[in-house]
Amino acid sequence: MSLHDARIVFTPSGRRGTFPRGTRLLDAARSIGVDIDSVCGGRGLCGRCRVVCMDGNFAKHAIVSRPAHLSVVNEIENRYSERRRELEKNHRLSCQAVIRGDLVIDVPPESQMHRQIVRKDAEHRDIKLDPATRLYHVEVQPADLLEATGDLKRLCDALAWEWHLADLACDPVILPRLQHALREGDWRVTVAVHRQSTIVAVWPGFIPATHGIAIDIGSTTIAAHLVNLTAGNVVATDGIMNPQIRFGEDLMSRVSYVMMHEDGADELTQAVRRGVNDLIGEVCGLGGIDPADIVELTVVGNPIMHHLFLGLDPRELGGAPFALAVDTALDLKARDIGIAIDPGANVYVLPCIAGHVGADAAGMVLAEEPHLLDDVSLVVDVGTNAEIVLGNRDRLLACSSPTGPAFEGAQISCGQRATRGAIERVRIDPETLEPRFSVIGSELWSDDPGFEAAIEAFGVTGICGSGIIEVIAEMYLAGIVDENGVINGTLTSGSERIFAEGRTFSYVLHDGAQRIVVTQNDVRQVQLAKAALYAGVRLLQERAGIDRIDRIRLAGAFGSHIDPKYAMILGLIPDCDLDSVDSAGNAAGMGAMIALLNVPARAEIEATVRRIEKVETALEPKFQEHFVNAMAIPNKRDSFPRLFSVVDKPAARPESTGTDRRRRRRAS
Ligand code: FES
Repeated sequence: MSLHDARIVFTPSGRRGTFPRGTRLLDAARSIGVDIDSVCGGRGLCGRCRVVCMDGNFAKHAIVSRPAHLSVVNEIENRYSERRRELEKNHRLSCQAVIRGDLVIDVPPESQMHRQIVRKDAEHRDIKLDPATRLYHVEVQPADLLEATGDLKRLCDALAWEWHLADLACDPVILPRLQHALREGDWRVTVAVHRQSTIVAVWPGFIPATHGIAIDIGSTTIAAHLVNLTAGNVVATDGIMNPQIRFGEDLMSRVSYVMMHEDGADELTQAVRRGVNDLIGEVCGLGGIDPADIVELTVVGNPIMHHLFLGLDPRELGGAPFALAVDTALDLKARDIGIAIDPGANVYVLPCIAGHVGADAAGMVLAEEPHLLDDVSLVVDVGTNAEIVLGNRDRLLACSSPTGPAFEGAQISCGQRATRGAIERVRIDPETLEPRFSVIGSELWSDDPGFEAAIEAFGVTGICGSGIIEVIAEMYLAGIVDENGVINGTLTSGSERIFAEGRTFSYVLHDGAQRIVVTQNDVRQVQLAKAALYAGVRLLQERAGIDRIDRIRLAGAFGSHIDPKYAMILGLIPDCDLDSVDSAGNAAGMGAMIALLNVPARAEIEATVRRIEKVETALEPKFQEHFVNAMAIPNKRDSFPRLFSVVDKPAARPESTGTDRRRRRRAS
């Protein structure tokens, strides 16, 4: 080290080096592999190279670091401060600051090119920001009479020289805009480059950030997250009802529509694409972004939504052998599938796992990471068709199970979607059999003072999926329903809540302007749905030789709202420590967002999906046996020791009369 050299330590990486005084700080950092971001190419425009010069004696590094050991703040930094935001004390643009002496330099997270995006719950790894499409600002050689090269050639030369992006291709769709952008920007442009290989967008001058959207196409709703691909934050989230609903509430009725109408598949494709375009418009409106500036889209959906969005006929998915048209991930151009964003933008569609287990389940795996854990995870998206993934880093299995629409409130006498006025929480006093409940739209319980006034505007309108789970589980705990799911008719004498309806009995949950009743048939519908889901899980457990599940994650709109305790009491999910059962929220949408923010995650999920063992429940002879056992509450064969170590077993009830027993046999 000569007298002209200075020692520099970068934190938090701890990388250090010795550099000649006069070296630009950004160059020093990069020469030793310190990860500092830049969009503007060191022109003092983007601020992404901002660092903090530490002031003090750092004995650990044997360095005395002073702000004066950097060149004085220059004009460009002053201009940046005026235009963008004030640079805080000791904060410098590393592309402008020059080394004058020994330094300890901190690189804050927002200046790291591959920074971690922290996910809120501790169970998940953070996402490393590494999007497929990045921005580069360049200065291009102006057109010259003596130099007969095209604008594109000079742009590519500038990108190769300044950003080391060699052999770039250019999406032809941007060529008509290129000449105008170069001249409007006075030969300075910002380009978006996809996977460091293809120019997909160009803007005159400097653009500080670019955006992408992660889309989850569900049969009922479509959800979108608008994400800043430069900073890694979610700018806005929005959702709409899937416009295909007018062709049928559930997936099979939409496939039936396609079968019965010559142009049915096309109509459904146009409807879902229109819906996606409308949603893009809305979420961009919320975020103040022009949809034409969206450079990347990632998409997940169940197999039928996946096919219809891509313009593929879903008929083969309507019956065995449930053949997918394509089970690999797809990279498409937005313009080729009628999506109105930047015409050069890419659409990445996650791979489907099997004919019944879609790209939404792949997204769920990416978000919940069962493939990275030693613990055995059960991840379930509880919809009309439950998608189930079980396993750990050694082995992963998946299947789907036809749960039907009961959990969405359909086929339940007072069932409804989870909207205002729907009963969502229920408790029943095992002594008096009197219920109390809460409804969506109010925090109060029905026996709280002020409840009637709080719900006056909308009233109690029905029971949503989570309410159905709770009321039947509570009826079981109170002894109103026995383990076979039969409502105990002997209780009519002790409670007016229970009354005979023909040969069976019902329970009055609410006797208001609208009478909310749980009938024997309601209980039966929930038993059928939960038995189908549980049988699917048992089948996977058996195939994998897994007895004990360490962790259960419930995904999807319904899965996120049910109380794990009640789901387990009913036997919807297997026995597990209640602390280890949790909601996964919209895990499929989170998976799409991870694929948007981190391009290596795409290879990860593609490889994981290839090794997932697919189990077809319809072909498994043991499914029926598991299903029959699972019709009981919680289960005829499986005990739930971990559950009943923390939950009291149901109260004993008087024996039914002979008439009741006959009624019960008929009801069964
Ligand atoms: Fe853009 Fe320094 S690299 S401001």
